[in-house]
Amino acid sequence: MKKENNNVIEANALTKRFGNVTAVNQITFSVNEGEIFGFLGPNGAGKTTTIRMLTGLLAPDSGDAFIDGVNVKRNPIKAKMKMGVIPEMGNVYVDLNAQQNIILAGRFYGLPMKELKKRANSLLEQFELYDRKDDPVRTFSKGMKQRVNIASAIAHNPEVLFLDEPMSGLDVQSQRLIRDIINQMNQKGTTIFLTTHNIEEANQLCARVAIINKGKIVVIDRPERLRRTFETTQSVEISFDKCIDDSLIGKGNIVNRVERLGDKWKLYTNNPDKLVKYLAKFAEDKDLTIVSMEICRASLEDAFVKFTESKSYDD
Ligand SMILES: Nc1ncnc2c1ncn2[C@@H]1O[C@H](COP(=O)(O)OP(=O)(O)OP(=O)(O)O)[C@@H](O)[C@H]1O
Ligand SMILES: [Mg+2]
Repeated sequence: MKKENNNVIEANALTKRFGNVTAVNQITFSVNEGEIFGFLGPNGAGKTTTIRMLTGLLAPDSGDAFIDGVNVKRNPIKAKMKMGVIPEMGNVYVDLNAQQNIILAGRFYGLPMKELKKRANSLLEQFELYDRKDDPVRTFSKGMKQRVNIASAIAHNPEVLFLDEPMSGLDVQSQRLIRDIINQMNQKGTTIFLTTHNIEEANQLCARVAIINKGKIVVIDRPERLRRTFETTQSVEISFDKCIDDSLIGKGNIVNRVERLGDKWKLYTNNPDKLVKYLAKFAEDKDLTIVSMEICRASLEDAFVKFTESKSYDD
């Protein structure tokens, strides 16, 4: 047992190679009890490989994973009892109905049948599937299948839930439902680990985000702080009623770079407040009418691109 604090998930120098590809390279991080932790990275970054090692589906070449202090390699069953896993491809049985899927999953964890039926019905209600509980999952839409997938994975009330790209390919409404479910589970105390390549999704859900690229963690931080790291990419977008010369607008020492976007100007700056005041005066002096003006903050996407471009792997 290795548990000195309230870390529910611990990855300790996890490494996995496939042939000459190092899919996951010395990854170390921990997730606190009750946290929603995002693993954000582009295709092929090593997200699924990491999740598979954390959940005991794939043995690491080196390193260790702990779930609530239990070593996944040495004590796989004990570790697995603590977790629910929603894999990338889903693992629902399409010939069974929704209720049967949940019950079957619960049976794997040894839950008694009577308790399971009650649990299945309450999950079906919560996931807005009760009306369709007797239909084979084959007849379900992708979003409905994903709900069955999640309901089955949490039949045994796991302490930790792993989701591999849970929102991928779903429409906005289904995404919202899944997001609500994740939040509700988290409020009841479940620790959540999810992978995504969607920055906005990570931003909306996660308390902390690890950015992974080419098998290595590039940074771990709160989404808001990642965004702030790149405040220099803030900008002001402005348009005037008349055409102006970009050499005029670029003056004032507050503008780092000028871009023309159709009838608008995009002015990059470290100090949007000062720039807005400068632009107001500029417009007044030149007798221009400001048609529109907007401060654009650095997006998390900017941060992501920067991190995955620059501070990437070094071997
Ligand atoms: N079973 C396997 N055999 C060989 N190579 C593999 C295997 N699984 C993964 N890889 C390789 O490991 C790297 C990481 O893959 P992984 O599936 O972990 O990425 P990912 O971040 O989940 O990507 P995606 O966003 O596309 O799901 C890739 O280069 C991939 O080709
Ligand atoms: Mg993947």
